[in-house]
Amino acid sequence: MSEQLIIFDTTLRDGEQSPGASMTKDEKLRIARQLERLKVDVIEAGFAASSNGDFEAVRAIAAAVRESTICSLARANDRDIARAAEALKGAARSRIHTFIATSELHMEKKLRRTREQVLEQAIQAVRFARNLCGDIEFSPEDGYRSDPEFLARVVEAVIAEGATTINIPDTVGYAIPELYGNFIKNLRERVPNSDKAIWSVHCHNDLGMAVANSLAGVQIGGARQVECTINGLGERAGNCSLEEVVMAVKTRRDYFGLDVNIDATQIVSASRLVSQTTGFVVQPNKAVVGANAFAHASGIHQDGVLKARDTYEIMRAEDVGWAANKIVLGKLSGRNAFKQRLQELGIALESEAEVNNAFVRFKDLADRKN
Ligand code: KIV
Ligand code: ZN
Repeated sequence: MSEQLIIFDTTLRDGEQSPGASMTKDEKLRIARQLERLKVDVIEAGFAASSNGDFEAVRAIAAAVRESTICSLARANDRDIARAAEALKGAARSRIHTFIATSELHMEKKLRRTREQVLEQAIQAVRFARNLCGDIEFSPEDGYRSDPEFLARVVEAVIAEGATTINIPDTVGYAIPELYGNFIKNLRERVPNSDKAIWSVHCHNDLGMAVANSLAGVQIGGARQVECTINGLGERAGNCSLEEVVMAVKTRRDYFGLDVNIDATQIVSASRLVSQTTGFVVQPNKAVVGANAFAHASGIHQDGVLKARDTYEIMRAEDVGWAANKIVLGKLSGRNAFKQRLQELGIALESEAEVNNAFVRFKDLADRKN
């Protein structure tokens, strides 16, 4: 039996941290229901302690969604963790996700704490959380830029306290796929109790490599959870995009050998809902969910796709929720695509000569329009 890759969606938490993407409780609830239809394993519904609005949103999602695990983020302190636990009370399955920064830069300049203080705070936080919830995720923020030896000490200690998922964020999108994959692999080897937790990747897209880095974390590093957002929404250049990472694993199952629970036919609806809700337009050439992702404009490609779609398509548009692929007629189109469109429109031309004639006139018009 093949292994499962857990899909953890953080559109409603990290995605919402995108400037201008803040959502109301009702909007979040609508998106959470769509994420449930998408069969996301874990929904990070918000950061309950950050505001009363977010607390209420997490609470409402926990009460409404039954199929996915509902998670709230919490800083590594008792107040945040208690607030998260309170908001998650009504959930069928809940998770508390607690974090603290472990890179020298963040500890010294932001937290103004020593290594030993941070280690102790992480231990106390996980111990406190574990008494409130059986499913605890721990993230060392800026993990990828942390000293591996210190990071290993922190991770070993929080697993010993009962953390069930260890997430290693590339908080600032600094990683390179091979290096990030090996970072996770080496860290797992360094931590004696690493087999007691599921390892997770969380990559930001500052250098456009969030999906590639996440996949390397899975393939080289052995992570079995990916954190991602719909349309790659997120702070600065965004997070790892759910639709891209999921379709990479599904389409290249021959390489990854992993199963995902996701119902891919819900992807386009999820993408549209998030885009409409936040006002963040999806670029036309965006993989999987862009308007042109399955559109063919060149005559050679159109002819190929009409004869056998796999000549130019590696996924079926219908499988990710589009009505069908799109043959876009324009000045680059070929006669075959033109003839097919006439048939679809119910226009019956008597002879091949008539088709040829109409095609010449169409090309002339398209040349002038383009
Ligand atoms: O990017 C990050 O480090 C985070 C953590 C809170 C997991 O979002
Ligand atoms: Zn993040």
